Amino acid sequence: MIGLFDSGLGGLTVLARLRERLPSADTIFFADQAHVPYGDRTHRELLGLLRANLGRLDSYGVDAIVMACNTSCAIAERYGWPPSRAPILDLIQSAALAVARGGFRRVGVVATAATVGAGSYGRTLRSQIGGIDVVEVPAPALVPLVEAGEVDGDVPRAAVDEVCAHLSLDLDALVFGCTHYPVLERHFRAALGERVELVDPAAMQAERAAELLGERARGAGRTTYVTSGDEAAFLAKVARIEGSMCR
Ligand code: DGL
Repeated sequence: MIGLFDSGLGGLTVLARLRERLPSADTIFFADQAHVPYGDRTHRELLGLLRANLGRLDSYGVDAIVMACNTSCAIAERYGWPPSRAPILDLIQSAALAVARGGFRRVGVVATAATVGAGSYGRTLRSQIGGIDVVEVPAPALVPLVEAGEVDGDVPRAAVDEVCAHLSLDLDALVFGCTHYPVLERHFRAALGERVELVDPAAMQAERAAELLGERARGAGRTTYVTSGDEAAFLAKVARIEGSMCR
């Protein structure tokens, strides 16, 4: 079984890619909605939440932890990974591999305030890709919109426009450095036009999971959803977000 966690619904974008790659894998997805949004929390709090979430997934007996939260990866990049029984696939490493494979040189990263504050994306990309130009932009308004299911219409479009106003339009690529943001991809596409490549690290994350687990990922293709928040509301929102990603 593969374990994933996020602060909330954003990690479903990673789960969706993982299921495309490994359709018969059994997965367990934990959304820490009692503490969402992570992006506004202190590093100390985030490190504690990361430790607790890894421990929770380990207690389920998972074979691997496929990270679905960039903010937690950013904290681990800065302070080191807490111990875990299962191997951990880091989402920021997957993002760097995707950027390297795409050959992008002028790259924007949109992420939570905590991720941008930790500087982890910039450090990782610059250390692995020579001559890369990276600009990191926080987008704190977007996670609450996705959690509230407000993903269509004027409000999310204006919020994404506001974020994109801080980006130069001669970027080669924009990396979704938060797993909630791919849910709003069409608004980013509308704001940035066709010239800027949109990079969702989840695709590379799923590719690496398939390489890591291979045959061991074979199961019944079942997903178990767990939240630290309101379960009925969570399951209704999961269905809505998964529906909107299929459109
Ligand atoms: N979706 C998470 C990430 O990738 C966290 C978003 C939040 O709770 O602020 O960073």
